[in-house]
Amino acid sequence: MNVPTRLCFLLVAALAAPRMSAAIEWIDLRGAAPIRGDAATGAAKATVCVACHGPNGNAVVPAFPRLAGQRADYLYWRLANFKRGARPESVMTAQTANLSDADLHDLAAYFAAQTATKSPLPAMPSARGESLFRDGDPARGTPPCQGCHGADARGPADSRFATWPALRGQNADYLAARLKAYRDGKDAVSSNEFVMRGVARSLDDEAIAALAAWLASHSP
Ligand code: HEC
Ligand code: HEC
Repeated sequence: MNVPTRLCFLLVAALAAPRMSAAIEWIDLRGAAPIRGDAATGAAKATVCVACHGPNGNAVVPAFPRLAGQRADYLYWRLANFKRGARPESVMTAQTANLSDADLHDLAAYFAAQTATKSPLPAMPSARGESLFRDGDPARGTPPCQGCHGADARGPADSRFATWPALRGQNADYLAARLKAYRDGKDAVSSNEFVMRGVARSLDDEAIAALAAWLASHSP
């Protein structure tokens, strides 16, 4: 290689490098080892979180997710994915940047151990939302949500699926935003996101609004 060619090559490599390092490795979460966090240690680390996620993780701001009583393994993997930059546009990317992996385990254990309280936001029952959750919509290829999220939307009972979330009593605005993010999002960074992206692609805005309203209208 002559000098100009080599310089040119280096320049191209330098330009390509940031994009290469930004690529996120895909993680297969099937059979992920159970997490081992300490809820009491997590409590001390959670003071910054409750500013947005509410006392004990019972968020009252509609756009912020409720964390209280959510499944620990699901919470941990969400935090781990934020930390590795899976959604750089999320406020959670900065929130997790300076936390260690042990911190993420402890925070997940802490919020999972908190008692979820009924949201003070007004309930908006939806017969269409209930029907979609229970039976899906075969004409559009929407599977029944309960098949994966549990009949009562508290997450699947089978511990092999501990990384799959509960949805019951979650804030409607957050649920709707998240379903749209799955539907309209880019590549999945884990097997879990891959599964949920496939489901969300069958949902239009009306179906998303109905599902979010129905799920949010329940006590946790
Ligand atoms: C400035 C407000 C803010 C702070 C502070 C904050 N969060 Fe968040 N958090 C959000 C928002 C907004 C979302 C939804 C973002 C998204 O989906 O990209 C979110 C999402 C999450 C999720 C995903 C929930 C789900 O159901 O998937 C977890 C877990 C989480 N935050 C934990 C934490 C922890 C732990 C802390 C403290 C270390 C924290 N957050 C601090 C605003 C905040
Ligand atoms: C085949 C299994 C499967 C089906 C069917 C399914 N889900 Fe999911 N869902 C998942 C998995 C796995 C995740 C976790 C994805 C992740 O980690 O981002 C998830 C996550 C979610 C989340 C994010 C929760 C949060 O706290 O951020 C919402 C909302 C959701 N699903 C709603 C639904 C709705 C509504 C339906 C029915 C239309 C449905 N899901 C059907 C497997 C499924």
